[in-house]
Amino acid sequence: MEYRLLDGKATAARLRAEIAAEVEQIVKNGGRRPALTAILVGNDPASQTYVANKDKSCKEVGFAGDVLRLPETTTQEELIKIVNDINANSSIDGLIVQLPLPKHINPQAVIAAISPDKDVDGFHPQSAGKMMLGEETFLPATPMGIMTLLKEYKINTAGMNCVVLGRSNIVGRPMANLLSQKGIPGDCTVTMCHSRTKDLAKYTREADIIVAALGIPNFVSADMVKEGAIIVDVGINSVEDKSRKSGYRLVGDVDFDAVAPKCSYITPVPGGVGPMTIVSLMQNTLKAYKAKAL
Ligand code: GUN
Repeated sequence: MEYRLLDGKATAARLRAEIAAEVEQIVKNGGRRPALTAILVGNDPASQTYVANKDKSCKEVGFAGDVLRLPETTTQEELIKIVNDINANSSIDGLIVQLPLPKHINPQAVIAAISPDKDVDGFHPQSAGKMMLGEETFLPATPMGIMTLLKEYKINTAGMNCVVLGRSNIVGRPMANLLSQKGIPGDCTVTMCHSRTKDLAKYTREADIIVAALGIPNFVSADMVKEGAIIVDVGINSVEDKSRKSGYRLVGDVDFDAVAPKCSYITPVPGGVGPMTIVSLMQNTLKAYKAKAL
C-alpha cells in the first residue's frame, strides 16, 4: 500500500510560525512575552533532552523560557515551595515539572501543587477531570499534539476502531479519552491495551488506528497490523547502533520499515509525535497567557 507520512516536524513548524507571529504582534502592541518555566530535578538523560527541546522551542516562538535545574537531592517540600513561588509569580504563565521525578518525590503531590491556571501540561487533577468531562481545559501535550496532527491531515476518525497501547497518565489514558469524545477527530471506538492484556495482537489486527505508547522498541510488527491502518508511534527509544557516530539511534515502538507498507498513514520517529508534543505545550502556554491577559 502507498502510505503517507504524518509529518509532525513540518506540521509543528507551521504551527510554531503561527504562534511566533501572534507573539510578535503582542510585543509590537506593548505586551510582555508569554513565559514558560520548566523544572527539571536530577540528571535523567532523556528528560534533559526533552527539557532542552522545550526551551529551544520557547525561544523560537518568542516566549520567555526558563529552565530551573535542581539537584537530584531536592526534597519534595523544597520542590513544592518552588512551585508555590512560581504560582505566585504573575510574570510566569505556564509551569511544567518534568517527569519522572526522583523516587523520593511523589509526583502527584507536586503536580497537585501547580496552579491549574498555569498547568500547561494538563496533568493537574482539575485539568484531568475537566478533560474527562469534555470541558475546556489544558490538554496533555502528547495526546493533544496527536489530535492536532490527525486534524491537520483531515483524517475523519468517526466510527473507527482505535487501539491505544499503554495506559500512562501522560499518554495512554488521556489519548483514549480524547479519541472517544465527540468531535473531529474523535468518535472512535477505543480499546486500551497494556502489559497485562491477553492476546494483544487480536486487538491491534482489528484496529483502524493504533497509537503505540509502550516504550518498547519496534514492539508493533507487520503481522499485528491490518492493511490500511493508521499508525501513530509515540515511542522514542534509544537503541545501540555502532554504525552511527553517537553509537545509538532513536526508534519508535513500531517496526517502521516492516509496518509502513501496510499503512495508509504513519508517523515517523523522529519527526512525528515528538515535535507535535512540544508545539502543543507552546499552544497551551499562549492560551494560559491570553486567559490571564483578558
Ligand atoms: N515526561 C514525559 N513526557 C512528559 C510531558 O509531556 N511533560 C512532563 N512534564 N514530563 C514528561
